Amino acid sequence: MAQSSTSGLDGVVVADTTLSEVDGERGRLIIAGHDVEVIAGRSSFEELCRDLWAAIPGATSAPELRRALGQQRVWAFEQIGTLGRALHAADGMDALRGSLGQLPSRGSEWELAVRLTAATAVFAGAWWRLREGLAPLPPDPAAGHAEDLVSMLRGKATAHRAAGLEAYLVTVSDHGMNASTFTARVIASTGSDAVSAIVGAIGALKGPLHGGAPGPVLDMLLEIKSTANAEPWVRNELAAGRRIMGFGHRVYKVRDPRAEVLSAVAEEMGGAVLHDKALFDLAREVERTVLRVLDEVKPGRGLKTNVEFYTALVLQSLGLKPASFVALFACGRCAGWAAHVIEQHAEDHLIRPMSEYVGPRGLTVER
Ligand SMILES: CC(C)(COP(=O)(O)OP(=O)(O)OC[C@H]1O[C@@H](n2cnc3c(N)ncnc32)[C@H](O)[C@@H]1OP(=O)(O)O)[C@@H](O)C(=O)NCCC(=O)NCCS
Repeated sequence: MAQSSTSGLDGVVVADTTLSEVDGERGRLIIAGHDVEVIAGRSSFEELCRDLWAAIPGATSAPELRRALGQQRVWAFEQIGTLGRALHAADGMDALRGSLGQLPSRGSEWELAVRLTAATAVFAGAWWRLREGLAPLPPDPAAGHAEDLVSMLRGKATAHRAAGLEAYLVTVSDHGMNASTFTARVIASTGSDAVSAIVGAIGALKGPLHGGAPGPVLDMLLEIKSTANAEPWVRNELAAGRRIMGFGHRVYKVRDPRAEVLSAVAEEMGGAVLHDKALFDLAREVERTVLRVLDEVKPGRGLKTNVEFYTALVLQSLGLKPASFVALFACGRCAGWAAHVIEQHAEDHLIRPMSEYVGPRGLTVER
């Protein structure tokens, strides 16, 4: 029987994948065979890409991949002068859409995966610097991808900042059939190219119900200011019919494992930078309050802390501002998008669901 058009495709399986498994009942995430808790903070971004892209002809070792990503970052930086005003957009996702969309779509699956992943980081870094009124900083091809991204954003990468961003990029690299990955796969299923698929995915990730939540999470914490304000603030939001950003998930109903992984990273980083520690302590208290109030006001919905809540704290601890958060999510997720595009191309089957027509019939036209 056809799905109702209001269902949002809940529970519908649209592809077989070897890339990641999101187990909502057990609160478990597997990326390329590893539990997310095993790889976050232990695997480099390059090792993660090696594992996600293992099926691509031409796939290579992590050190070779590090070199290839470094070379492509240099190449992408050289393209900045040809991108017109794309990187001057106020919004980072508009900037990524406008800049990545100008890249050549020719090349092997391998070349496109490396090029798009490298270019996403370079363009995100350059866009942020321009937004801050600063000149874009050139990449260092010898550096690791995460470390270099911190340098392109902030000028210098300390070891703990590079490690924090690396753990973040690995944690968000892939996540089953989320909206942006589905978008990329739909585009790839038409036989279209990886550049088009990833530009489409960027558009899907931009929305606040997908990748756009961590900025508002930080705004929420700054607005709440002190633990005493947390409960009245949350109750007021819910009474006004608004959602609390950083809570709830379509699939995870017992726990979002990424939230726990990033909570540990945020705790470590919050401790390393003194002024962030107060924000981290406030966040812990706000989290407890939100969970308690949601359980009371929205019982039985299984609303738990999601990845975006602690993403806000990790990225803030890196010295980054909320306006850059979604673009950085794209830097990590790009690795997964590229892998899904390749998997979908190999599938070679058009994704084409149906809709239920609920409009009028038999209307006539007056002449
Ligand atoms: C992520 C999200 C879209 C998933 O929603 P979903 O699975 O489609 O669930 P629904 O929208 O059907 O919501 C189910 C119920 O929970 C409520 N709910 C869901 N998330 C909520 C939240 N963050 N705050 C308050 N209520 C929430 C809904 O209002 C709805 O209540 P109702 O049954 O009284 O109508 C949703 O939880 C949300 O909007 N979260 C906030 C945004 C966010 O953090 N996004 C990042 C996701 S990783």
